[in-house]
Amino acid sequence: MFPRVDPTSTESWRKLEEHYLRIKDLHMRDLFREDPGRFERFSIWFEDEILVDFSKNRVVDETMELLISLARECGLPQAIESLFQGEPVNETEGRAAFHVALRNLSSEPMRVLGQDVMPQVREVLEKMREFSESVRQGKWLGYTGKPISHLVNIGIGGSDLGPRMVAQCLRPYGHPRISVDFVSNVDGAEISRVLEKSDPETTLFFISSKSFTTQETMTNAMTARKWFLDRAKDERHIAKHFVAISTRRDLVERFGIDPRNMFVFWDWVGGRFSVWSAIGLSVCCYVGFERFQEMLLGAHRMDLHFRNAALERNIPVILALLSIWYNNFFGAETEAVIPYDQSMERFPAYLQQASMESNGKSATRLGRRATWSTAPILWGEPGTNGQHAFFQLLHQGTRLVPVDFLAPARTHYPVGNHHAILLANFLAQSEALMVGKTQEEVRRELASLGRSEEEIERLFPHMTLEGNRPSNTILFRKLTPWVLGALMAMYEHKIFVQGVIWNIYSFDQWGVELGKQLAKRILPELEESGPQVPHDSSTRGLIDAIRSMRGS
Ligand code: F6P
Repeated sequence: MFPRVDPTSTESWRKLEEHYLRIKDLHMRDLFREDPGRFERFSIWFEDEILVDFSKNRVVDETMELLISLARECGLPQAIESLFQGEPVNETEGRAAFHVALRNLSSEPMRVLGQDVMPQVREVLEKMREFSESVRQGKWLGYTGKPISHLVNIGIGGSDLGPRMVAQCLRPYGHPRISVDFVSNVDGAEISRVLEKSDPETTLFFISSKSFTTQETMTNAMTARKWFLDRAKDERHIAKHFVAISTRRDLVERFGIDPRNMFVFWDWVGGRFSVWSAIGLSVCCYVGFERFQEMLLGAHRMDLHFRNAALERNIPVILALLSIWYNNFFGAETEAVIPYDQSMERFPAYLQQASMESNGKSATRLGRRATWSTAPILWGEPGTNGQHAFFQLLHQGTRLVPVDFLAPARTHYPVGNHHAILLANFLAQSEALMVGKTQEEVRRELASLGRSEEEIERLFPHMTLEGNRPSNTILFRKLTPWVLGALMAMYEHKIFVQGVIWNIYSFDQWGVELGKQLAKRILPELEESGPQVPHDSSTRGLIDAIRSMRGS
């Protein structure tokens, strides 16, 4: 049975509250000065590829011990086993959340309800390999006999964010003949822009939807289908230009996609964890099956680490506990993820779904309202751009915002000394957040610039940086498929650990349903002679305004 522990009722929680009062005013600057071994103790290498430095956090050894005890009291080891045993950890939907099976490259069976799912996982992977190779080798031909040179993935949420982010990150591995685009928003602007530059003879559409009913995806898919048929003129050509990735064979057939062009996955794959499944097919065609498999392998290695490493040296566990430390004891409301790698531009957006759709919940596993806060608001932008936008708030704002800094030591784009400058900034920001700048330092600096006493008095409060602002630094050798897979799995497991401790169900997303239902009800009302359904006066007034604006 999956644990159901009210975290605030544990002995560790109570001790952490006391501990917080004792250590909240300690400054990391002093902790580093007094303890030369701090970096050694508070950093972990993952397979010589990724270095996770969590030493710039407002913790001492006792903090980490108490957080680990909290994890134990909340039944974390048991929960991890439930996840890997394929138990129905997604209880409100009555199914497993078994994405770890999708990247199980070992020969170990992985069972859901006693049945080994690995044969079907391998079968789909083999189909993905064959298909992607034929596209990349120019053997899969469009309706006029030309090879495919443009891939368009149509999907939203997990059927978009994962593949889109991965394709961007792995662009250096992309096939030189093949470009890839993603369409998610139902705003016609997005599909129009992609279709404008598409050639029907050489474009391949991937309709990616677990449910194959999602309004945005189906609308975009129908538009792409019509655009294609207007040009190709023959329904039989659809088979060469449309593939579907879904759990719903019946709906795929009804859409008119040849079932042989369908790639299945299963209800135990959650939408936001589906990039590891055939939802990753567009990426696979773009970067090649071997690279896709390297990404699975990186994730698999992180899975093994998560399952087997002691909690004290377990990277996802530590990241989760630090996040809980700030969220639940310091009252931090947000968390920033700043990749110093332009290719990772969509990484924060991908993590937003992974984290906020998973842990943005207020009902506990006991069905009561949580009296503690759950998922923080996650946000971020690549460095160095963020430095010239919102870093001011990180350094001097009134809010505490823990940051994850990520960067590759080596770049795919060795242009001049750009990368050294990027890395210098990456290191400078976490150092600046931690050490800050004292009043004395500011005064000395201003005096050395010849400023008057009066000016110094006026300026120093504005130029002082209190520091003591926490961050994790996640440094990796290079942004390879393996590293990317490991980083993604690391965050997935971090999020899982948080859900266990917050005693919420991380694998459902009931909160998004109401908006979908209401949108369907409102849609006909926007027509000029549409029905008038009762609404609150604001919604009514807005509907009327839209009708009149559209009418005119
Ligand atoms: O918005 C909710 C959601 O169900 C996500 O969890 C999911 O990733 C997305 O919609 C897309 O769903 P589908 O793959 O079924 O189209």
